[in-house]
Amino acid sequence: MSPRRNTTSSARSLDELLTDFGGQMPRKETAAVEPPADKLFPKVVRARGTRHRGHGWAPTLPPLAGYQMTSEQTPVTWPLIAGDGLPPTGAPMGFNVLSGGSFYCDPMGWVNDDNIGVTNPNVFIFGKPGRGKSALVKAFMLRMIRFGYRSLVLGDVKDEYEDISRALGVEPYRIGPGLSGRINPLDFGPLAQDWEAQDRVECARRGAILFNRWLALIRGLVGSQNVPFTPTESRVMNRVLRDLTGWSRGQSKLTQITIPMVWAALDTPTDALVTECRYETRQDFFDGTRGLRDALGSLCEGELEGLFDTASTFQPNWRAPIQTLSLNTLHANGNEAAVGIALMCLNSWGQGMREMAEPGDRRIVLRDEAWMQTRLGVEAVKTLDSNLRMSRNDGDIQLVTYHKPSDPLSAGDQGSQAAQIAKDLLHLADVRILLGQDDEVAAELGHLLGLSRMQQELVTGWAMGDKGRALWMVGDQRYKVQTVLTPLERRLTYTNEAIAG
Ligand SMILES: Nc1ncnc2c1ncn2[C@@H]1O[C@H](COP(=O)(O)OP(=O)(O)O)[C@@H](O)[C@H]1O
Ligand SMILES: [Mg+2]
Repeated sequence: MSPRRNTTSSARSLDELLTDFGGQMPRKETAAVEPPADKLFPKVVRARGTRHRGHGWAPTLPPLAGYQMTSEQTPVTWPLIAGDGLPPTGAPMGFNVLSGGSFYCDPMGWVNDDNIGVTNPNVFIFGKPGRGKSALVKAFMLRMIRFGYRSLVLGDVKDEYEDISRALGVEPYRIGPGLSGRINPLDFGPLAQDWEAQDRVECARRGAILFNRWLALIRGLVGSQNVPFTPTESRVMNRVLRDLTGWSRGQSKLTQITIPMVWAALDTPTDALVTECRYETRQDFFDGTRGLRDALGSLCEGELEGLFDTASTFQPNWRAPIQTLSLNTLHANGNEAAVGIALMCLNSWGQGMREMAEPGDRRIVLRDEAWMQTRLGVEAVKTLDSNLRMSRNDGDIQLVTYHKPSDPLSAGDQGSQAAQIAKDLLHLADVRILLGQDDEVAAELGHLLGLSRMQQELVTGWAMGDKGRALWMVGDQRYKVQTVLTPLERRLTYTNEAIAG
């Protein structure tokens, strides 16, 4: 850094500006004025400035209009400064641009505070790519660690959470074609812990949770391939799952199953299965379950082969501060449907991780670029929907990032059931963070989230001016916030390697 001259004004004088171009003005040097020891500023500058050439003296004062209004009317003129602000609890994210005060994010604390109109701890983050969605999430995760929160990244499609994971001493887990990692979507998860030691009631409870989760997943996986999943398919599936695990034989310890095992059970059905599912002949069974079998079969071959079709090789460490599952190898292949299916499996798997959570075990569950999952169709949207609804019960903070509000709507044709559910998804989060967006998205934003024109303009104007600037919608309150990253976080959140290179 060059040494700063001790001058009375920090502005550059005309002489200094001229020297930039090689010229110099004859000038009489005057000694710099030293401020008196007890006074920081030697003299007070008057409202019009200093009357001196090059000192920006204003001949007239800017007209300042005075208004008088009631406190009920003020929020209309200054819609973003209404209210008392939020309590200083949780992660310090940056500063409130209008009040200048620090801004803290504490979704669970907000839920527990009756003065704040937040009833669930879910957070939706919208923003144009590159505006800082992921960086905001990473900073939040890091800053919540000291409050005992652990993070679970359900599908890191760009492998961009690996850096913060390693910084926390946790080796990220990778799955993709050619890698050795496997995840079994039909894993028992922590429900298998001490299964034998449980009484009948507890075993029945755990069994019910497992079978429901598996059925929901299979419905989603099958549905994403446009194969209908009616009560008939559901009945067949229930039978198969209970037979394969040994549940229907009253086995005290259930057998671990995989998707290929389920497929094989349908492809070579036992006579008992055929009759129990009320098919006349084996041929009837085959005809009736063709779609189901083909849909399951496609999960064990092609792009997804060797990813989700054997026992899990990943033993999650429930105590680690972060767990991330990298999917970039799969994403790099360009098959977005495969990524979507992988995300759906991880979703179910992550839900399993939560089934046995002890009270007070707080987690941040992240779904980055969630549109990849919801685009698969109505079942995928329903899965996300049910996960978000659960968060009130299990104490998770669910973070979902999207580019724009219509992303979840791409789940189906306009007006379809999928689009309708996806639209309602937006109401499952009481906290929405809107980072910078282009003008085209503004109208859409305003329409879906009920923004005023001024708020829309904030998102398309001010928020586009710098990374991390966002309109925070916390319940019915709005805040204009700049997220601030520490130098370390800036390094850990850097995602512009490809562009910079
Ligand atoms: N508040 C911020 N201050 C400084 N740099 C930021 C901030 N937010 C994001 N960045 C930087 O901007 C780049 C893009 O951010 P990223 O979070 O990857 O965007 P997105 O997830 O929205 O596509 C990253 O290199 C990140 O370090
Ligand atoms: Mg991102």
